[in-house]
Amino acid sequence: MTTARLAVFGNPIGHSRSPEIHHQFAAQHGLDIEYKPLLVPVDGFDRYARTFLTDGGLGFNVTVPFKQDAFRFVQSASPAATMAQAVNTVSINEQGMVTGDNTDGAGLVTDLVNNLGWELEGRRILILGAGGAVRGVLASLLSGDPASISLLNRTTSRAQVVASHFGDQRLGVVEAHLDGAPFDIVINGTSAGLNGELPDLPSHVIGAGTRCYDMSYGSTRTPFLAWAMRSGAVSLADGLGMLVEQAAKSFEIWFGLPVTTAPVIERLRTSL
Ligand code: ATR
Repeated sequence: MTTARLAVFGNPIGHSRSPEIHHQFAAQHGLDIEYKPLLVPVDGFDRYARTFLTDGGLGFNVTVPFKQDAFRFVQSASPAATMAQAVNTVSINEQGMVTGDNTDGAGLVTDLVNNLGWELEGRRILILGAGGAVRGVLASLLSGDPASISLLNRTTSRAQVVASHFGDQRLGVVEAHLDGAPFDIVINGTSAGLNGELPDLPSHVIGAGTRCYDMSYGSTRTPFLAWAMRSGAVSLADGLGMLVEQAAKSFEIWFGLPVTTAPVIERLRTSL
């Protein structure tokens, strides 16, 4: 059996946990894979992608800052990738057709609904941020049939562009001084926490029944989740489960095989 060659393209890439996640998935099926982190120059995506695939690579993941480059690169894109205008999973079939998918949204929803048991149907959701990370998950969240999704971004005009791109009645834009009832679910999709910062928002968005999710994660509680706990949120979760679930969906695209994610999440958590 030949070794399947896979990779994750990013810049920076040293921090990526994807290689260990995919090696654990492969071990569940006794598959022989080689999954490497690849540091790609910021202007080198197409060149690296072409070389990797012509050298026999089966496919690769794409992370910051190349998800939009990957969307432009692929010959066909899934509906999720098309809605997000971003690709995180590239695959090549036997005819040589290069396809792009985006598994971030499905990964988030699987973590919220299946792992955490946070129902989306009929819920009022607040999302912080309007960058690539948020664009990548909105279509999947909307397909969970929430009552509404409100976007709150430091730069409101950017949230307005995102909302009009999706053009869904349930999706609206709010500002930091919003008033009204607490939300059912608040999701942080900003990169503020990477600098130890907290997006500006009033604590009354959180009530006794509010669940808070941070799409980023770390070895300690993120600034957003620390704030959510102080503000009285009933449940907190970080994005480690989303990371593993989006990887599981990439693995399924490449190999057509399902994987068990719980032990992988658990192992990753203890190694943070
Ligand atoms: P990503 O691909 O991670 O989403 P991005 O497209 O650069 O990266 O988006 C980053 C998001 O985090 C944006 O919503 C950004 O707000 P602006 O659109 O106003 O720039 C948000 N963000 C980053 N740092 C922040 C901070 N300190 N406070 C609030 N929002 C922040």
